[in-house]
This record gives sequence, structure tokens and C-alpha cells, in this order.
Amino acid sequence: MDKVTVRTIMKKYKKGEKIVMVTAYDYAFARLVDQAGVDAILVGDSLGMVVLGYPSTNQVTLDDMVRAVSAVARAEPRAMIVGDMPFGSYEASDEEAVRSAVELVRAGAEAVKLEGGREVAGRVRAIVRAGIPVMGHLGLTPQKRHLLGGYRLRGKSEEEARELIEDAKALEEAGAFAVVLEFVKAEVAKRITEELSIPTICIGAGPHCSGQVLVMHDILGLAPFSPPFAKKYFDCGKAVVEAVREFAEEVRSGKFPGEEHYW
Ligand code: KIV
Repeated sequence: MDKVTVRTIMKKYKKGEKIVMVTAYDYAFARLVDQAGVDAILVGDSLGMVVLGYPSTNQVTLDDMVRAVSAVARAEPRAMIVGDMPFGSYEASDEEAVRSAVELVRAGAEAVKLEGGREVAGRVRAIVRAGIPVMGHLGLTPQKRHLLGGYRLRGKSEEEARELIEDAKALEEAGAFAVVLEFVKAEVAKRITEELSIPTICIGAGPHCSGQVLVMHDILGLAPFSPPFAKKYFDCGKAVVEAVREFAEEVRSGKFPGEEHYW
């Protein structure tokens, strides 16, 4: 099967096929999620919370993201690799945004994602002009949670809905090829999806979107806590504890290593 590119994503979108994106942050899981046939792997800055144990995504650095993107890229996935631009890597200027995006592409990203609406449209335009595809991210934008008043559902009032629609249009106009909508009222996500001619990829924003994304650690039951809109498909956390407990018991009882494990 051919490598997924922005063109593939657009073709799927035009055919009305749902786009599937999931996060991964290392070589091992990038191989597995790619085998599962996702369209895109998001190397999200959620890395900070689900892998590095930080209290928020704001502690994640560009170096953290570069290391994770390069590990995912070494898996040579068929899925498109989208590298998240961390807090502090694109706010100061267009030049800094382009430099940071270039670092992610050098590490193996095939597109970058950044948070914000009209206020980052200039950054999006500059990165696209540098030849790098950009995915926008609206609604709950965790990097700006202090400004937004916490991790809250967005689009509850008509005024907020209109703001989100204007933001989405500005991102499309600036050249973004897709927009993530996080924790947005489903009806508002539907309106945005209808207004745009690029795909919306939703998380906690209902079914009326062009695709869905979830954090892998939420799907697999590996996250210490998960948002209410995430769905756990498997309790991998429990399976890990059971397997390691069995190993520990076998070591203590002398059952491991068995004869087949040494020479
Ligand atoms: O960092 C991340 O994993 C994300 C998703 C929640 C969309 O931005």
C-alpha cells in the first residue's frame, strides 16, 4: 500500500471516507499502530503527560518532540507522520515557527500541527510557504488552557461557536490541510465541517467530522487518567501489571529462567 500523504488525505476526504489518526511517540508503537492501518500518526505533545509524566503539555520542548518524531520515523510507517509543535516553539515569530517546523521535518515529520486560530494564521502561512504541510488545532487547545480558563468544552455559546468558525476559516485560508477540533460541541463541529473544504479531525467533538483522533494511551488503558471523551478499547495497563507480576513470581520461585532460556 502506498505511503499516505496530504494528497491521500484529501482524496479520502473528497470521497467522504473517514480519516483515522492516532498518537504514537516511539518506534515500537509506531510499528504497531501502522500495522493497524491508521491514516496518520500524530506525534502529539500529549507525550509530555502520557509518557514523560509532566503535569501538562507546556513542559514539552522541541528537543522532546524531535526525539519522539525521529523514533516514530525509524519505524518507516505507511501512515503520514504529523509532528506536534510544542508550546514555545512557534509563538514568538514566523521565523521561529518555520525554524521549529523545519527541525521536526528533519527528524521525519511529514506535516506539523500547531494550536490556535486567527492569531496563528500568519505562522501557518509562513510554514506552508516553507513547503511544510500544516494541520491546525482548535477548540480545547491545551497549550493555551490558562487563557481559555482550563480544560473546558468549547462552542457552548453562539458567540464562541462563531469565533471557532472564523478561526477554522482563517486556518484554511492560511493553507492548513486539515484541522483538529478538540472538545467542541458536536453541533459546532458539524457547522465547521460543513463550512470548510479541508477535513476536520475530531477528538471529543462528535461524529459529524471528516475523521477522528485519539491518544493511543487512552485507547490502550495506559494513561494514568483519560478525558471523558476518550474510549478505552483494551486494558493494556492491567495486562502489563499481570505479566510483570508473573515474571517476578517466577524469578522468586526459581521457575524462570527455564532450561529453554539458557545455554
Ligand atoms: O497532543 C496530542 O495528542 C493532540 C491530540 C489530543 C489531538 O494534540
